[in-house]
Amino acid sequence: MKLEMLTIRRFSTSSLKILLISLLFLNGCLAKEKPKRSVIVTPDEEKVRDAEGYKAISEIHREMDDDHSGSIDRKETTGFMMEDMQMRQSDRARKEQAFHGNDDAITIDDLWEAWFESKERAWSVEEIAEWLLNVVNLPMYVDKFKELKIDGAYLPRLAMQNQTFMVNKLDIRSSVHRQKLRLNALDVVLFGHRDHSNRIKDIALALSLVLLSAFILLYIRLQKKSSQEKQELSSRLMQLKSMEDEFQHAQKNWNEERSKRSNSEETGISQIEVENLKIQLEEAERRHVLNHSFFINTVSLRN
Ligand SMILES: *[C@@H]1O[C@H](CO)[C@@H](O)[C@H](O)[C@H]1NC(C)=O
Repeated sequence: MKLEMLTIRRFSTSSLKILLISLLFLNGCLAKEKPKRSVIVTPDEEKVRDAEGYKAISEIHREMDDDHSGSIDRKETTGFMMEDMQMRQSDRARKEQAFHGNDDAITIDDLWEAWFESKERAWSVEEIAEWLLNVVNLPMYVDKFKELKIDGAYLPRLAMQNQTFMVNKLDIRSSVHRQKLRLNALDVVLFGHRDHSNRIKDIALALSLVLLSAFILLYIRLQKKSSQEKQELSSRLMQLKSMEDEFQHAQKNWNEERSKRSNSEETGISQIEVENLKIQLEEAERRHVLNHSFFINTVSLRN
């Protein structure tokens, strides 16, 4: 009995430990560090430092600004998404909102600042390679991109209509591939990258927390139940022991009385007294047997 309860407890403790460790490991893997900017640079300073990038952003702005007013309005954005990006209706509304927010007229500087602050601009060479592989779906250029150390800051140059960079630098001969790359880069530069894996990570994290709390609850309940059972069984044992004592006592009395009676018929123990003792003895025996079988049943049920 004790051994069994010990086994249950040992099992729960060790599996709790294993679960905790695996959860910690899982969460460690999920929590990826975000890139940090170590030097504080203003967007204006960056225009000079990343002249090619700024030129590309100006170029994209010019492409979108149909009426050459110096700013992009909502109509122009919608037209650009439809004609140049061949975007579906369902994507357009959400992306237009993401692009404009409350700003109806987006200037070159607006566009540059938004791009400058975006997390996509800080993408590393590795992240660009991942994007090229999994989102754009052009795995054949991954090596070339890595070799030339193409990182997030290059995205506007990939998004321009002028494809000289893609042809001369990246050596992408297929115009279909260039168009594919351009549209994907435009999408990231203008509307940002939607990371679906992040949501999956959040869900996994929430799920693991739910699992952990459920397991802790179960563990506590199991502990409680096993200690309750232990108490119950030990009280049963005590009861059984006292019954046994009672039975032995009655048996002793009976034997004494019988020997007294056979020794001296004349001392005059009445027949009634003997009968009483007999009934007492039988009663004690019956209870003993009943209790004993109950005890056996409990033990075998638990097994
Ligand atoms: C495209 O850009 C290159 C240099 O980046 C330039 O020499 C070329 O004239 C441009 N082409 C067009 C059509 O503007």
